[in-house]
Amino acid sequence: MVFQEEQRLHLGAEAEVWSGLWMGRPAVRKLRRPRAWRHPDLDHRLGHRRMMSEARLLVRMHRAGLAVPALFDLDPEQGTMIMEQISGRPLIEVLRDPTLDPAFLRTALESTGAAIRNVHRLAVTHGDLSTNNVLINDQGEAFLIDFGLAVIDYEVERFGIDLHVIDEILGASHPDVEHAIDHLLTGYSHEEERQGPPQEQTGGAVPTASEVLKRLENVRTRVRYHG
Ligand SMILES: Nc1ncnc2c1ncn2[C@@H]1O[C@H](COP(=O)(O)OP(=O)(O)OP(=O)(O)O)[C@@H](O)[C@H]1O
Ligand SMILES: [Mg+2]
Repeated sequence: MVFQEEQRLHLGAEAEVWSGLWMGRPAVRKLRRPRAWRHPDLDHRLGHRRMMSEARLLVRMHRAGLAVPALFDLDPEQGTMIMEQISGRPLIEVLRDPTLDPAFLRTALESTGAAIRNVHRLAVTHGDLSTNNVLINDQGEAFLIDFGLAVIDYEVERFGIDLHVIDEILGASHPDVEHAIDHLLTGYSHEEERQGPPQEQTGGAVPTASEVLKRLENVRTRVRYHG
C-alpha cells in the first residue's frame, strides 16, 4: 500500500520512523533497521518476530478500545509497519516543557497510568515503558506506543517491573516534576476502580492493580538492597 512520506520523526538503533499519509490518513511508517553486529539471518528472524509480535498485540489492544495506534499495514519481509499517527508529543518532552501548568502535567501522568493499567488488564506487559514511548495529546490524554518488547504474561513480576521502569525514569530524568510517579500510580489504580476487577483472559487471571502496586514496592525494596 502506498505511503506518502513527509518527514522523518525518529532514527534510532532499532527503527526509523517517518510520518506521512496512508490512504489519505495521517500515518507513520516504522522501518526496522538491520543491526550490523548481528548475523543477517539471525537479525532478520529476530526483527521479523518482533514486528509480528508488535503488530499482533497492537491489533488486539486497539480492538479492545485501548489508547494505542491502529495498525494499517504490515510487511514483515520488508520490515515495515504502517500505523495511525498519534498527534501528540512524547511524555519526556511534555515533562520538560516549562510553559505547561502543573494541572496539565498531572492530567497527562494520570492518563499515562490509566493507559498502562488498560494494557495490563489485557495481560499485556509493555517491556519498555520509557517516557519516549508515551505520547500526550493536547487534551493531556496518553497513548502508548512501541510494543516491540511487549509480551502476554500472567505472573505479577513483569507487571511490577513495567511500573518500576517508568518509576526509575521519572525519578532520574525528571526529578524536578514533583509527585510524577504518584500521579501516574493514582491514574493506574483509579482506572481499575472505574472499571472493576479485570476480566479473565484466555490464559487465566490477570494480576489486579493492587497486586501489581504491591509488587512494585517489592521490586523497589529488592533494588535498594541489591542495587
Ligand atoms: N504511532 C505513532 N504516532 C506518532 N509518533 C510515533 C508513532 N510511532 C512512533 N512514533 C515516533 O517515533 C519514535 C520511535 O518509535 P518507536 O518508539 O516505536 O521506535 P523504537 O523501537 O523505540 O526505535 P529505537 O529502538 O530505534 O529507538 C517515537 O518515540 C515517536 O516519537
Ligand atoms: Mg521507542
